[in-house]
Amino acid sequence: MRTTTGWQADPATRALRRTHLRRRDLRPDDVAIRVDYCGVCFSDLHALHAHEDNPDGALVPGHEFTGTVSEVGGAVTGFTTGDAVAVGNIVDSCGTCPMCRAGQENFCRDFPTLTYGGRDRRDGTTTLGGYSREYLVREKFAYHLPPGLDPAGAAPLLCAGVTVWEPLRALGVGPGSTVAVAGLGGLGHLAVKMAVALGATTSVLSRTPDKADEAHGLGADGFVVSTDAGQMEAVRDRFDVVIDTVSAPHDLTPYLRAVAMDGTLSHLGHLGPVTVNTTDLLIGRKKLSSAGSGGRTSTAAMLRFCAEHAITADIELLPSSQVNTALERLERNDVRYRFVLDMSDLD
Ligand SMILES: NC(=O)c1ccc[n+]([C@@H]2O[C@H](COP(=O)([O-])OP(=O)(O)OC[C@H]3O[C@@H](n4cnc5c(N)ncnc54)[C@H](OP(=O)(O)O)[C@@H]3O)[C@@H](O)[C@H]2O)c1
Ligand SMILES: [Zn+2]
Ligand SMILES: [Zn+2]
Repeated sequence: MRTTTGWQADPATRALRRTHLRRRDLRPDDVAIRVDYCGVCFSDLHALHAHEDNPDGALVPGHEFTGTVSEVGGAVTGFTTGDAVAVGNIVDSCGTCPMCRAGQENFCRDFPTLTYGGRDRRDGTTTLGGYSREYLVREKFAYHLPPGLDPAGAAPLLCAGVTVWEPLRALGVGPGSTVAVAGLGGLGHLAVKMAVALGATTSVLSRTPDKADEAHGLGADGFVVSTDAGQMEAVRDRFDVVIDTVSAPHDLTPYLRAVAMDGTLSHLGHLGPVTVNTTDLLIGRKKLSSAGSGGRTSTAAMLRFCAEHAITADIELLPSSQVNTALERLERNDVRYRFVLDMSDLD
């Protein structure tokens, strides 16, 4: 076994504490990565809250990180020591099911192995995430970080970025499309940047009026205060695609009403049961969809696109020792627009 240092949930104190972690020995198809930067995703908060209620096993969050290859296994062909790499929230899949064969490892029928809180397919151990100084991953699930992308700002592309990229692409967003992004947070601000770069006319639907200037700065043409019924009525049947990244359970009705005829509401944020009045779908033949994470092919394509269009997250970089502050502030919606942890203080 190898050892490293990271931030592990402590249900007794409801905080993360610095501790030594055990990592597997390097396998022939593994790359070992020195984790340099790890983004703080709202899903980490969901996972921490679930763990507080049911503290079963160790939890080390973190599933969007960039770093440097420190060692490669004997069968690795795509990476060498010193390469800049990125890892997202999937670190393995069955590789043989129709979804995996179609390049959608994120939808693996055998369920993809998650970067943390997943079950390693070979030794059955629980995966521990990127809030740590070292991570070991099959080379198939590591991505070259294109030159020119700032490694700290690029870390959130690996979860927040690809989660909005896949539906934008699958729904054919491009020049002439009208897109609205509901919830201007980590996912939302990257959705705005990507939709704008794809050529769409893009608006933000936000409950936070203070974000209007920043939304325009990100390239959005429109800004709608989602809690203002009059403003929402004014955009009724307006958008080909609404990307919903709201992190709390919420009524989909106002967002469905903003979708244009034959358009789609892509519900990516808080996952779980929702109630839909089918009349809101019937009127305008509207569609309700969801998505999450990305397959290997589209993750690599997303990184190339972001390099070409100079897209990274707008981040607040903190030393990893401030991880608990980052999580508290994220929960209060007090971040513009993604916390990224600098892991170098774990040496
Ligand atoms: N599908 C997937 O695979 C996937 C992947 C990653 C994350 N997620 C989920 O996506 C959600 C967003 O994640 P994130 O990291 O982008 O979070 P985030 O940075 O906190 O952004 C969420 C945004 O939603 C809005 N919001 C928050 N609470 C709200 C409420 N009660 N009512 C209305 N709007 C609210 C806020 O935007 P405004 O201030 O602009 O209203 C907030 O900035 C989380 O639930 C996360 O777990 C899903
Ligand atoms: Zn995430
Ligand atoms: Zn599979």
